[in-house]
Amino acid sequence: MANQEDQFKKVLSHAKEYGYVFQSSEIYDGLSAVYDYAQNGVELKKNLREYWWKAMVQMHDNIVGLDAAIFMHPTTWKASGHVDAFNDPLIDNKDSKKRYRADVLIEDFAEKFEDKVQKEVKKAAKRFGDAFDEAQFLSTNPRVLDYRAKKEEILTRMGKSLEAEDLADVKAQIEELGIACPLSGSKNWTDVKQFNLMFGTKLGASAEHATDLYLRPETAQGIFVNFLNVQKTGRMKIPFGIAQTGKAFRNEIVARQFIFRQREFEQMEMQFFVRPGTQKEWYETWKESRLKWHLSLGLGMENYRFHDHDKLAHYADAAADIEFKFPFGFKELEGIHSRTDFDLKAHEEYSGKKLQYFDNEINKSYVPYVVETSVGLDRLFLAVFSNALQEEELEDGNTRTVLKLPAVVAPNKAAILPLVKKDGLPEIAKEIFDQLKFDFNVTYDEKDAIGRRYRRQDANGTPFCIAVDYETKEDNSVTIRHRDTMEQKRVKISELKSIIDAEVNMGVWLSKAK
Ligand code: GAP
Repeated sequence: MANQEDQFKKVLSHAKEYGYVFQSSEIYDGLSAVYDYAQNGVELKKNLREYWWKAMVQMHDNIVGLDAAIFMHPTTWKASGHVDAFNDPLIDNKDSKKRYRADVLIEDFAEKFEDKVQKEVKKAAKRFGDAFDEAQFLSTNPRVLDYRAKKEEILTRMGKSLEAEDLADVKAQIEELGIACPLSGSKNWTDVKQFNLMFGTKLGASAEHATDLYLRPETAQGIFVNFLNVQKTGRMKIPFGIAQTGKAFRNEIVARQFIFRQREFEQMEMQFFVRPGTQKEWYETWKESRLKWHLSLGLGMENYRFHDHDKLAHYADAAADIEFKFPFGFKELEGIHSRTDFDLKAHEEYSGKKLQYFDNEINKSYVPYVVETSVGLDRLFLAVFSNALQEEELEDGNTRTVLKLPAVVAPNKAAILPLVKKDGLPEIAKEIFDQLKFDFNVTYDEKDAIGRRYRRQDANGTPFCIAVDYETKEDNSVTIRHRDTMEQKRVKISELKSIIDAEVNMGVWLSKAK
C-alpha cells in the first residue's frame, strides 16, 4: 500500500514538474477536483482523443461523429432520468465530518477479499513452482472460494438495496460489516442520503426571466436528441453509431485521486443503434472490441479486467466496466452499457416527436436499442501516464526517470539536440527541425550537456533524441537515440522521417486493435 501511495505521489509531482497537469487556478490555492492540462499534457490528451476518434469514426464506415453543445434544453435531463435518478448515495462520518459514497465504502471493503485471494495465489505459486495451475487453484481452493463467495454476497446485497432505493439497508450493511471511516477509524455514521450530481446554471439576462439549465453530466444525450437528424441526413442504416468527444460536468462529492475523478472532465462516447433483440450480441462485440483497442496501446493485459455491474444504471439491461490497474488499484476506465430503448423512448415521450427508424429489411418501424461505449479521456490519460512513469536502474549504478509513453501518443516525437551551441551545429539542428515539423511535433533543445538533455527528454516521454555533432557537417549523419532502449544509431538526416514514422504512425498502432 505504501508503495502504491509513493508511486501515486511520484505521478502527481512528475505531471506537474514536466508540464503535463496543473491544478486549476493554482495561484488562488486551486479549485478542488479541477485541473488544467499544460503544454505537454494538452498534446498527450489531443493524441489520445485522436487515437480514439480514428478507431471509432475513421475505421468504421457505419459510425459518424457529432459535436453537440454542452447546454441542452432542460427537459432533456428530465427525460433522461438525470433530474430524478442521477444521484450518489452519501454518508457522513459524524466524528471526522468526512463525506463518503456509501457504495464505494462497501465496494472497497469487498475488494479486500479479492486482495486476500491474490495473496493466496502468490503463496501457492511459490509453493508449487512450475507445476502451479492458477485457473485450477482459483476454481478449487476452499479458502479462495470462501473469499470470493463473501465478496459476492456483499456486492449482491448492496446492488439489491441500491436498486430498491433501500438506503437504510445500505447503512445497515456498513454497520454490520464494521466499516470504519478510512481517515479517523470511527464507525459513527449518519444515515445514507441521495445527492444529485448535476450542476445547475441559468440562461437569460434577468433573474425573473432566466431559464434553469444544467451543465451536461454526460455527452450521450446530445447524441440521442440528434439521432434522427444524423440518421436521415447521413442516410445511415441500422446498425450504425454516432461518436462524440466533449466536456461533461458532475458535482462529485468524493473527488480524490487527481484527474481520476474530476468535476469537469472529458468523455469519449459512442452510441451504437441496433435492431431490438440484437443488443446482447452487439454488447459482447463492443466489449471485446474496446478491450482490444486499449490493449493496442501496449500497457499490458495484466493491467485490465472486466467488471460486470451488480447495480445497473436506470437505463441499462447489461453493463460492464473495463477496469485499469491505476496506482491506487483496479478502477473503472471505460463503461460499456446496453441502454435498451430507454433514452430514445423517453425523448419521444417528453418531446412528442417520433424517434423511430424504418427498417426496410424487415419492413417495420421501431425505436432502436442502443449499446454505448463511454471512456473518460482524463482517466485514459492517467492510465497511460501512470503506467509509463518508471525509475530504471542503469548498468553504471545510476537510475533514470523515464516516461515510457506509447510513442504514438507522446507529446513530442523527437528532440533535436546540437552537441554544442557553436560551430554551425545549432543551424543544422534547426534545419532538421524545420524539415520534420511538417510531419511530427518535434522540439529543439541546446541547453546543458548532452547527457542531461537526454535525461530531460526521457522524463518528458520523447521517444527519440537526434544529436547533431561535428560528423554531421562532414556526412549529413546524426545520432538517433531511442528513449526506451537508450540504443544509439548513426543514420542519415534523410532517413529520419521514415525511422520516426515507423514507430509513431497511428495507422500502424491502430492495426493492432483489429
Ligand atoms: N454515458 C454513460 C456515462 O456517462 P459513466 O460510467 O457515468 O457513464 C463514463 O461515465 C466514463 O466517464 C467513466 O468510465 C469514466 O472514465 C468517465 N468519468 C465519469 N465520471 C468521471 C469523473 N468525475 N472524472 C473523470 N472521469 C469520469
